[in-house]
Amino acid sequence: MRHLMNPLDFTVGELERLFDLANDIEHNMPRYAHACAGKKLATCFYEPSTRTRLSFEAAMLNLGGSVLGFADADSSSASKGESVADTIRIVSCYADICAMRHPKEGAPLVAAEKSRIPVINAGDGGHQHPTQTLTDMLTIRTLRGRLDHLTIGLCGDLKFGRTVHSLINALSRYEGMRFIFISPDELRIPDYITEMLREKQIPYEEVIRLEDKMPELDILYMTRVQKERFFNEEDYIRLKDFYILNRKKMKLAPADMLVLHPLPRVNEISVDVDDDPRAVYFQQAQFGVYVRMALILTLLDIHVD
Ligand code: NCD
Repeated sequence: MRHLMNPLDFTVGELERLFDLANDIEHNMPRYAHACAGKKLATCFYEPSTRTRLSFEAAMLNLGGSVLGFADADSSSASKGESVADTIRIVSCYADICAMRHPKEGAPLVAAEKSRIPVINAGDGGHQHPTQTLTDMLTIRTLRGRLDHLTIGLCGDLKFGRTVHSLINALSRYEGMRFIFISPDELRIPDYITEMLREKQIPYEEVIRLEDKMPELDILYMTRVQKERFFNEEDYIRLKDFYILNRKKMKLAPADMLVLHPLPRVNEISVDVDDDPRAVYFQQAQFGVYVRMALILTLLDIHVD
């Protein structure tokens, strides 16, 4: 039995197969419509979510399976003091696979250790968000044609943004990558990530101004300042509008640069960018359904010929 806690749980070869499957699903949806008949997905979400939870549910429904679960800790027995380990033992009796989001780093891993069904980390605190990373990678691979030899700018909250941490981890295995970290000083990328890049001799730069680096980027990955992980509201208010990508700044970018964002967006991308063909963040959310369908099939070891 396999779980997904971190994008590195899959080898590069396994990821290639997963993305090929996701591309096939996109073009042949009816063939997969009954692949998970009789199977159930549990979504155990202890933290707010729109896309991740609904795209998991849509993925399972598209596969002909069914879904159950809870969308906030208050409506689960966590509010009575039940541990994640006990909850997953129970969920293992009711479902065939579980997607879990939790504000505490490592909680889905604790669940996986006690689980009788595959557990997918759907975001754990400021740590990892592997299925968002699969979504981001499928988007880049499909729209840009490759996952190597890319200059990727990550902008915004690089300290608390789990999608950023997972994506860098995953892309660090491809050749010719170059990372540009664009953030205010207070929201810098954690040291453990820059240490990992130095060890692997992967080039990176840390800068504050977005405009200066725009002309060099193949991909610009924008992120929201993670309000819920701040200890103090004043800092959040001071930093929340530090970056606002608008049409004027997009003029500095290459004609084929792609703008990704895991969403939700707050103010960091002005709505006047939405019509730019390089803005692919809504398409990205659609890719999230295909890749989660591919992931559910893979973890349940279901093959469709
Ligand atoms: C992200 C998350 O939850 O980490 N959202 C998502 O899953 N698409 C990013 C965010 O909340 O800013």
